[in-house]
Amino acid sequence: MSLAGKVALVTGSSQGIGQGIVLRLAQAGADVVINYRSHPEGAEETLEKVKAIGGQCYLAKCAHPQGHTIQADLGSVDQVRALIAESIHHFGKLDILVNNAGIEKHAPFWGVTEADYDAVLNVNLKGVFFATQAFVQHLLETQRPGKVINISSVHEDLPFPNFTAYCVSKGGMKMLTRNLAVELGPLGITVNNVAPGAIATPINSQLLNNPDKLGALLTNIPLGRLGQPQDVAALVAFLASSEADYITGSTFFVDGGLLWNYQEQ
Ligand code: BGC
Repeated sequence: MSLAGKVALVTGSSQGIGQGIVLRLAQAGADVVINYRSHPEGAEETLEKVKAIGGQCYLAKCAHPQGHTIQADLGSVDQVRALIAESIHHFGKLDILVNNAGIEKHAPFWGVTEADYDAVLNVNLKGVFFATQAFVQHLLETQRPGKVINISSVHEDLPFPNFTAYCVSKGGMKMLTRNLAVELGPLGITVNNVAPGAIATPINSQLLNNPDKLGALLTNIPLGRLGQPQDVAALVAFLASSEADYITGSTFFVDGGLLWNYQEQ
């Protein structure tokens, strides 16, 4: 599987799953735009790792991927549009959009503030909507096919008390994907969701630092461990490749079996 000659934008890729996806796509030969909001040092670290891939040989081909970092807050539609425009300006085109940036806020439903609700929905859903729109406009103008991969969550289906706004955003992402698969299919644009469970990344650092909570979570994961960014990135690379050309409108869970695990005690 090769992504040589392809250009990918991965939102929120200065750390965690996004960083893992950038590196995996670059290993397959893609040029990558690394987007960050508030961690330029993380974006630089990701870029250095991309550069280190250059000259290494993977999958029977030697990859010499290029990387480029762009600051943008996915919660601002103006910044989202500028991000897509600058990505296209820098590399001349975009082929793959990975909507990865996401945030979550912990609060009981009755205590959720309007500001926190807006922050979560703006980044996780509105930003994805308008990033995808700008990407699709570019593909239409250049008359080319493309791939959209949304990083959703098991919580597009599974309730998560105290994270209602987050669940609402991921449920919305699920319907966005279904709708766009139908509407954009005739244009040769595929849209799929990759839905991680509990992955060891900064988004759940509180959980990772709480042995009781972590222990309880691990008993709910049949494969008995947290996921790693590479577990998610491998599937994203496949969905971004031409081997996945006939796949659209689907959600793929990467959760160690978490979603369907229910056991009577
Ligand atoms: C959330 C994590 C959570 C995991 C499993 C993810 O979508 O971001 O905070 O631990 O789902 O519940």
